[in-house]
Amino acid sequence: MSLLMHTLHVDLQERSYPVYIGRDVLSDPQLLARHVSGPQVVVVSNDTVAPLYMDKLRTALGERSLLTEVILPDGEAYKTLDTLASIFDQVMAAGHNRTTTFVALGGGVVGDITGFAAACYQRGVNFVQVPTTLLAQVDSSVGGKTAVNHPMGKNMIGAFYQPRAVLIDTNSLQTLPRRELAAGLAEVIKYGLICDEPFYRWLQEQLPKLLAREEAALAEAIERSCANKAQVVAADEREGGLRAILNLGHTFGHAIETRQGYGQWLHGEAVAVGMLLAVELSARRGLVPAAEVAALRELLLAAGLPVQPPPDMSPEIFIELMGRDKKVVDGRLRLILLAALGEACIVDDVTPGELQALLT
Ligand code: NAD
Ligand code: GLY
Repeated sequence: MSLLMHTLHVDLQERSYPVYIGRDVLSDPQLLARHVSGPQVVVVSNDTVAPLYMDKLRTALGERSLLTEVILPDGEAYKTLDTLASIFDQVMAAGHNRTTTFVALGGGVVGDITGFAAACYQRGVNFVQVPTTLLAQVDSSVGGKTAVNHPMGKNMIGAFYQPRAVLIDTNSLQTLPRRELAAGLAEVIKYGLICDEPFYRWLQEQLPKLLAREEAALAEAIERSCANKAQVVAADEREGGLRAILNLGHTFGHAIETRQGYGQWLHGEAVAVGMLLAVELSARRGLVPAAEVAALRELLLAAGLPVQPPPDMSPEIFIELMGRDKKVVDGRLRLILLAALGEACIVDDVTPGELQALLT
C-alpha cells in the first residue's frame, strides 16, 4: 500500500492528467492499473535506476501479456536519436501495437526520451511518467516537453506530448546522490522566485529538512512546485508566452552547460548560477532589493549549489552562447527577470553593455 500525500491535476482539457505524490506510489498496483490499463507495457529505464526500482514496478504492474523492459545506458550523453532508434528497435521486435503504454522510470533523461518515443511510436501511444530524481519530479515529468539532444543543440528534436499520469514516489529520493538532490532543489527554488513568494520564504526555513530528506517536507516541496508548474502549463501549454518564465536562469545556465560539455555541470547547478545572475540583473534594474540577491546566494550555497560560473567563462563567451538560445526571437535575446520577488517578467531589452557589466 502506498501513502498518497497529494494529488494534483494538470488541467489541459482532454489532455488533463493527475500527478500523484506519496511514499511507494511507484509500487502501488491500483494506481498503476488505473493508468496503465492495457495488456502491453514498455518500461524504459537506465542501468542505474532499473536495479533499484524495476522489480518493484514490475511486481506492481502484475501479469501483462507483453512486458518489455528497455534499459538504457545512464547519462545525458545517451539522450540521442541513436538511443531513440534503439528503443523503437526493441519495442518493434517485441511486437507492441498501438494499445501499448510506455512507462518512463528514471530521471529527466529517461523521461524526456521515453516521452518522445511514446509521441512517435505508431503516431502516439499512452505514456506514464514515474520520475525518480527531484528535478524530474518537480519539473521535467510535468508539462509534456519531450526531446532528445542533437550534436548542435540540447533538446532540439522533440514534441509536446503529455503523459496520462505522473507517479511521484518520494521514497525514491532516498537513494538519490546528494549532488542530484541539490540540483533538483535549484528548480524548487525557481518556483518560489518566479511565482510563489510564500513558498520561497517556506524554503528558506525548511531547507534543512529537505536536505535531511524528511518525507513530509519533500512531499510538500514537490506538491507546491508541481502545483505552480501545472498552473503555468495550463495557461500556456506550448510556450506561446508565459511558460517561458519557467526558464528563469536557464539562458545563462544553458550557456554554462554548452561550454562545459553536458554532464560536467548538472542542469540544476547551471540553473542555480543562472538564477542568481538573473536576480542580480533584476536588482541592478531596481526591480528587487539588493538584499534579496545576497539572500538567494545564501540559500543556494546552503543547498549545496554553485553560485559562480566556471572560471573560464568570460562575458564574451557567455554572450556568444546566450545568443544561440531558443528564446532569441528576430535577433533579440529574451530573458526572464523578476519584477518582484515571486513574480517573473519577460524582457527583451537587455543591452550587451548590461550583460557585460553583470558578467564581468
Ligand atoms: P538524470 O535523468 O540524468 O538523472 C540524474 C542521475 O540520477 C542519473 O545518473 C540517474 O541514473 C540517477 N538516478 C535517477 N533516479 C535515481 C534514484 N532514485 N536513485 C539513485 N540514482 C538515481 O538527470 P535529471 O536531473 O533527472 O534530468 C535532467 C534532464 O532533464 C536533462 O536532459 C534536461 O534537459 C531534462 N529536463 C527536461 C525538462 C522538461 O520539461 N522536459 C525540464 C528540466 C530538465
Ligand atoms: N522546464 C521548462 C518547461 O517545462 O517549460
